[in-house]
Amino acid sequence: MVNMLERAELVRDQLQEVFGDGDHSVEIVKAPGRVNLIGEHTDYNDGFVLPVAVDREIIMAAWPRNDDEVHLYAIDMDEESSFSLERIERDTQASWSNYIRGVLLELQERGLPVRGMNAAFSGDVPLAAGMSSSAALEMASGLMAKVIGQFQIDMVELVKLAQQAENTFVGVNCGIMDQFISGLGRKGHALFLDCRSLEYELVPLPPTNEYKIVIANTMVKRGLVDSAYNERRSQCEAGVEILQKYLPQVTALRDVSLADFAEHKDKLPTVVAKRCEHVITENQRVLDSIKALKANDIEEFGRLMKASHESLRDLYEVSCEELDIMTEAAWGVPGTYGARMTGAGFGGCTVNLVKADVVDHFTAHVKQVYAGKTGLNPEFYVCEADDGAKRIEL
Ligand code: GLA
Repeated sequence: MVNMLERAELVRDQLQEVFGDGDHSVEIVKAPGRVNLIGEHTDYNDGFVLPVAVDREIIMAAWPRNDDEVHLYAIDMDEESSFSLERIERDTQASWSNYIRGVLLELQERGLPVRGMNAAFSGDVPLAAGMSSSAALEMASGLMAKVIGQFQIDMVELVKLAQQAENTFVGVNCGIMDQFISGLGRKGHALFLDCRSLEYELVPLPPTNEYKIVIANTMVKRGLVDSAYNERRSQCEAGVEILQKYLPQVTALRDVSLADFAEHKDKLPTVVAKRCEHVITENQRVLDSIKALKANDIEEFGRLMKASHESLRDLYEVSCEELDIMTEAAWGVPGTYGARMTGAGFGGCTVNLVKADVVDHFTAHVKQVYAGKTGLNPEFYVCEADDGAKRIEL
């Protein structure tokens, strides 16, 4: 596997090959994908999440142009897309470019001096696998626009604006977790984020010679993710609306305590009650998992991951057969601290915390069980917590 700096060189060389190598100084940035350790479907409920930026990222190289045009080259797809900053519109052909277009438009709308540029990018974040390749592309584009345009914008502002671009320009109603961790992750740390106040804390992870974060890809991608995601969001909102009648201080599920929920649960339609129960208990699991991490109690952390999966499966109903087979196979391996689905669900990946010295056995076992039951060939990515979006100097 090529390492990050080697890939950055490759991206720079491709930029020069495609756009001519005149006398330009090249800027390079990276933005990572992510895996969420715990706190699923809580971000859009003003709740808590605990994601990690992984050492798989999008790398973008660019130089400024003297006109208002943006010329893009997606190396991995061997596709180009160009547009003028005077008029940024959605591209129905090269749909990947909409993540970049959306971010540049949001920056412009905030009055920031976005400049024309030639840019090329490549990544090793698996696409549509629930590891936030789109958030990584948004964050890389935003940071590149800042570097090329030489303007100031705080990383948290860039995160908010990237989420806005995805909501309004791309049309995906995501929460803030993915952009936030891609922007503000830190090597060796998970990031505990309060999605209401956007206050965050970097929580050190145990040393990587003790355990590994193993992401396992079911290789299942389902079209229904967006509609099911939006449906879950409205069910949570419906729950808040009813609970507010009894608990006027509640503006999001984040405000509902376990005790209040137990008292008023019977006022909710059954399905809505299940959705709310997941979110309310999941928020508590995040808080408990932070305590466990700080106490170096990785076994307890693993138990909370398992409980999170069960709640996503039974109450929030966003798991699927393949994710359940994969997590169950993982739970059976001695040395696995915890395993759960991660991301929006209905396919994509599981996240596993595995003792470093059993990783090979873990992947072999899970692969065998999973392939035997589903006929699919899963992929595994052994990851480390890495830094969020930043400039790279070669
Ligand atoms: C997707 C969204 C996130 C978050 C997760 C579920 O990844 O983009 O904002 O809601 O699903 O936790």
